[in-house]
Amino acid sequence: MKPIILDTDPGVDDAMAIAYALAHPKLELLALTTVFGNTNVDATTRNASWLLDRFGARRVDVARGAATPLVQAPLPHSEFVHGADGIGGCYPVEPYALDSTARHASLHRLAAAEYIVEAARARPGEITLIAVGPMTNVAAALALEPELPSLLESLVVMGGALDEPGNVTPAAEANFFNDPHAADLLMGVEWPMTVVGLDVTHKIMIADSDLDRVGAQGGETGRLIRDTSRFYVDFYSTKGAARGEDREPACAMHDAAAVAYVVMPDAFETVSGPARAVPDGMAAGQLLVDRAGYTYATDHWQDRPSTAVCMAVDAERVRDDFLSRLTVAGGAQA
Ligand code: RIB
Ligand code: CA
Repeated sequence: MKPIILDTDPGVDDAMAIAYALAHPKLELLALTTVFGNTNVDATTRNASWLLDRFGARRVDVARGAATPLVQAPLPHSEFVHGADGIGGCYPVEPYALDSTARHASLHRLAAAEYIVEAARARPGEITLIAVGPMTNVAAALALEPELPSLLESLVVMGGALDEPGNVTPAAEANFFNDPHAADLLMGVEWPMTVVGLDVTHKIMIADSDLDRVGAQGGETGRLIRDTSRFYVDFYSTKGAARGEDREPACAMHDAAAVAYVVMPDAFETVSGPARAVPDGMAAGQLLVDRAGYTYATDHWQDRPSTAVCMAVDAERVRDDFLSRLTVAGGAQA
């Protein structure tokens, strides 16, 4: 089993990624490290613990991370996409008691960045870090431990849009937009890093009828994925990438696609080159990749390492794997 840490801002598609990671026999989910993004970090942390509880996972740590971006002023959270609570209105109104015997019942003593560093030092070269929110915690971990790139097996991030239009501005995808300085910093470092962005995630749409099937056949986990995704599907079908008169309501499984990359990288095609995130201005958060091999006239592009960016995907294979794992009832690791 591949040990992974999921750095996340749950988040409806984050919940899909968590459920998928727990259900996948090739993965051992060590921890959820949380970050602001789809909602504030108090809520994403609370959601992380609650989701683990509901999915029946008991051995996964939760470490709270950044509340704000590295450099820029915080932007509004994405509650209009994910619901006021970040998980489609499903967080219980009544007080909820977590399983007190589970690891996630109490927050880890370390904050997210420290947790990532300690975990990587404890198992050098073994852990894959999958970052599916703004990349602030990963940048903070790198600042704490400059050797992090050699201590991790690899880094996979969900974010960015290259040929595909952005989903918050014409240029920018949400995770890059929320902390472009962190994204740019990570792509400036030599490490095994892959970017799974909208160029592939918008090709793997999950239909409402698929989610109905997950809800009917996937036990408690499936029911929760079905319930949390209703608000999100509605957003996608009216304002997002799935809109269109003749289309069945659907949504993107963005963060779960980053998990899929870890278990089946051969389902994806990448381009590689020096990569940057535009830090500010009208194209803030835009992902740029040099695919032409320019002889650089400006130092913005000199001495940048190569980053792999996913541009094509066997969408049917990824979708089928995701749906089949989630329709196996009770797919969580106890
Ligand atoms: O653009 C999609 C990304 O933004 C996903 O990670 C989603 O959860 C939001 O954070
Ligand atoms: Ca996310």
